[in-house]
Amino acid sequence: MKTMLNVALPKGRLGEKVYTMFEKAGFECPSIRENNRKLIFENPEIGVRYFWVKPSDVAIYVERGAADIGVAGKDILLEYGPDIYELLDLNIGKCKMAVAAKSDFYDDHQKTLRVATKFANIAKSYYTALGRDIDIIHLNGSIELAPILGLSDVIVDIVETGTTLKENHLEVLASIVPISARLIANKSSFKFKNEKIEEIMQSLKRQTEETV
Ligand code: PRP
Repeated sequence: MKTMLNVALPKGRLGEKVYTMFEKAGFECPSIRENNRKLIFENPEIGVRYFWVKPSDVAIYVERGAADIGVAGKDILLEYGPDIYELLDLNIGKCKMAVAAKSDFYDDHQKTLRVATKFANIAKSYYTALGRDIDIIHLNGSIELAPILGLSDVIVDIVETGTTLKENHLEVLASIVPISARLIANKSSFKFKNEKIEEIMQSLKRQTEETV
């Protein structure tokens, strides 16, 4: 039997795009297109197994070797700093990490800034570099609510189209870092399943160059 390459895909719209790229790379697994609630799909003939994973968990599966490779957002890699190889920028899932606040927000530098975010480490390192004291309010979603309800002064969050900010009367104060989806690999898998991983990586690289 062929050695299986285990691939963690981020569940959702981005994951569908990523799977299409893997399919073009010759690692197809037709059963994945069936509409059901299954989480694991494999094609033993070409030796590939896919899992649908919560996007923020992909790096955990890869770091611990439950998946050999996977696709994770740069936001997650910056926030958690997993011990993995970042192989390729896939140039999809593009957005940015930004600071936002209500349009009438006045920044009083004498005061500790209250920052609501899912990305505490990214926010801390950004404000540490600016020499600013902050108080992190760790939320798990709907971050935009925090400044509206007076829970925080600003938010550090992902901005893609800007619609969520606009519809909640918030504005970008500063851009922190551009974000996109990255191909990542478990360090020992990269050594032991190198040929297959390289093959996928080269094809994905060609595909990203074609779309630029
Ligand atoms: C993300 C992010 C923003 C929104 C930005 O939220 O946290 O709320 O998308 O996208 P936009 O600029 O295109 O409006 P997500 O949908 O992941 O949900 P969350 O509130 O659970 O974080």
